[in-house]
Amino acid sequence: MSEVKMIGVVGGGQMGSGIAQVAAMHGVDVFLHDLDPQALSKASSSISSSIHRLVSKATLSQAAGADALKRLHFTTDLEDFHMADFIIEAIVESEDVKKSLFVKLDKIAKSSAILASNTSSISVTRIASSTTRSSQVIGMHFMNPPPVMKLIEIVRGADTSDETFAVTKALSERLGKIVITSKDYSGFIVNRILMPMINEAFFALYAGVATKEDIDTGMKLGTNHPMGPLELADFIGLDVCLSIMRVLHAGLGDNKYAPCPLLVQYVDAGRLGRKRGIGVYEYSKEPRSTKS
Ligand code: NAI
Repeated sequence: MSEVKMIGVVGGGQMGSGIAQVAAMHGVDVFLHDLDPQALSKASSSISSSIHRLVSKATLSQAAGADALKRLHFTTDLEDFHMADFIIEAIVESEDVKKSLFVKLDKIAKSSAILASNTSSISVTRIASSTTRSSQVIGMHFMNPPPVMKLIEIVRGADTSDETFAVTKALSERLGKIVITSKDYSGFIVNRILMPMINEAFFALYAGVATKEDIDTGMKLGTNHPMGPLELADFIGLDVCLSIMRVLHAGLGDNKYAPCPLLVQYVDAGRLGRKRGIGVYEYSKEPRSTKS
């Protein structure tokens, strides 16, 4: 495939909007799609305030900021993706929902297009099996927030071709990222190690070992982590953490990955973290709902 000129990003939540911003800032035209028009307008304003912030700090020139904003297009119509060379899915962490999206993408996308998933933990091989182009399906796992974090974890499914891998690696590097490569096992590298630690922090809180503040301070000052595990869980989204633990538990078949009941209860209560104003910590007095 020749150079990637246009990207389609599906899902305008915290990851999809960040991925769209990074691509636009690195000279790629981007269509960002979400089913929910409100999510799209939130994505549009968060991207433009992030770019304006970078311009006001002189990290980005005014002209480069204006160019990036011009490269971004927001759409509720997935059909607009027929022109995309490369599509990155960043919707809810559910295998069934992702598979039904990939069935649609497979029909809409041009035959040469690569379909990537930003999944945190779900099998790329199984997502790919819902398409007729499994050699062109790959995991491209950005870290949160995509404009700041340097890493992309590339996950090769059982059928991912060398060409698909090479194009994805080249694109990741063009976006200014450092690449690591993982085989397609639940949780890949980063979340296989990170999520059990976050889950264990919930178990410590659940057992009354210490306060949430002391658990976080212990891990920040005791192990030099920039954020404590409970604070980080709120940042990631407790629903996302729970989904990943369930994938690890089902995929690796060991009870050590069973989600902590307190994490399950917080998600049931709609305490999803920063995005809802309340998780382990409280961030605002906004009303919460249980929808994710
Ligand atoms: P989010 O909840 O912030 O955003 C998801 C968005 O997808 C929502 O705006 C929703 O309206 C949209 N959506 C849901 N179903 C859709 C569909 N069928 N078609 C179009 N749009 C749809 O979630 P977030 O945190 O951005 O996560 C997205 C993906 O990225 C998940 O697979 C997650 O595991 C992964 N991820 C999340 C990270 C995090 O720290 N939150 C880090 C790295 C990966």
